[in-house]
Amino acid sequence: MKELQGGGERVSQPRSVFVDEAVLDLNYIPSRLLHRDAELRFLTNLFRFIVDTPYEMSQRALILGGVGSGKTALAQKFGLNLKEEARRRRVRVEYIHVNCRESRGSLFMILQRAVRRLRPNFPDRGFSANELLDTLMRILDEEDTQLVLCLDEVDALIDEEGSDALYNLTRVQEERLEGPRRLSLICISKDPEKFRELDKSTLSTLQRNAIRMPEYTRPQLSDIVTSRAEIAYRPGAISPEIIDFISELATSEGGDARYAIDILWRAGKYADTDYAREVLPEHVRKATAIVFPAIRPEEIRQLSRHEKLALLGIARHFMHSRETKATTGEAELSYQVVCEEYGEEPRGHTQFWKYLNRLSGVGVISTALQASERGRTQLISLPKVPAEALERELTKIIEQG
Ligand SMILES: Nc1ncnc2c1ncn2[C@@H]1O[C@H](COP(=O)(O)OP(=O)(O)O)[C@@H](O)[C@H]1O
Ligand SMILES: [Mg+2]
Repeated sequence: MKELQGGGERVSQPRSVFVDEAVLDLNYIPSRLLHRDAELRFLTNLFRFIVDTPYEMSQRALILGGVGSGKTALAQKFGLNLKEEARRRRVRVEYIHVNCRESRGSLFMILQRAVRRLRPNFPDRGFSANELLDTLMRILDEEDTQLVLCLDEVDALIDEEGSDALYNLTRVQEERLEGPRRLSLICISKDPEKFRELDKSTLSTLQRNAIRMPEYTRPQLSDIVTSRAEIAYRPGAISPEIIDFISELATSEGGDARYAIDILWRAGKYADTDYAREVLPEHVRKATAIVFPAIRPEEIRQLSRHEKLALLGIARHFMHSRETKATTGEAELSYQVVCEEYGEEPRGHTQFWKYLNRLSGVGVISTALQASERGRTQLISLPKVPAEALERELTKIIEQG
């Protein structure tokens, strides 16, 4: 808004409650990791050899914990510290953090991202995943460096490729009996069950080096929210009561710091929309109405168009159903109707099945197999999100393109 002058009165530009909104971004790495000292120390000790006795060992570690328990933040912080320490000691190390879900669980895409971090102009075609793995090792040789590769949300990789991919990643280093050790792995998962199928030796090392992240308690969440709010918000724009309110909500969502920070951000957006000078409880309540713990608007945006349409179909189905579960057939039918509405050719059954897998991987739907007369059918439920609210949000996002 322009400043209006004349009549002696000045209406100044409405101020935002934020001074630095970017620190509330999903990918922001906090400068201080609170209440995770023991976990950070454990991880640092596991990989201490990289700077103490470079090239002599490789290591694997596993970080386990619920959504928003600080797994990603812990790994990223570890990576930054490691690089800093390596620089001080003049040791060559790279830390590469790849989110497997964003790479659609494809080993090829994950390795491609890793290779691109080291060689930005690496061509995007003409290689198989295994060739890329060899290429990665060769680049590490050429640069004479060590790499800690962090596979965040590794569940997606196991879902898509089975246990082979992880097996290959661990073997590629072990098969090089001679010469320097170069590749270490950190896996991150919210689901300990996922590792059941791995071969024994891969599994046992991972389990030995597993870090379990407990749920954050309410005072811990309050510290995390306060420290972030202090840099994101204008002084006085958010009161300790509001911070308490948000911490309380996130505590009942299983100590989910990500939920807390999402609410912290969206509440501020609503305050700005109202031209309010500070965040009020009603802004927080409005935020909780669209930030579902099971899926964030950002995550909805990251889904492909047809995954969004499939989810919209499921939401529509449950809006009009008295049942808690839907069959794959019902969901697919509803998806087809939605496709027609949006002028899209519905994809086939196999593809639809994949969309369901992805949606359940994200956590927005649950699926369970059930035996029936005609074999096994998959039942779908939407346990954590109100169908109507989801429908509204999805429609908005789909229509924005
Ligand atoms: N101990 C902590 N101190 C400061 N910020 C934290 C802490 N734990 C989590 N966060 C913040 O909370 C959000 C969610 O954490 P994240 O690491 O993404 O959780 P997860 O990967 O376990 O789902 C991020 O914005 C992160 O920066
Ligand atoms: Mg994470």
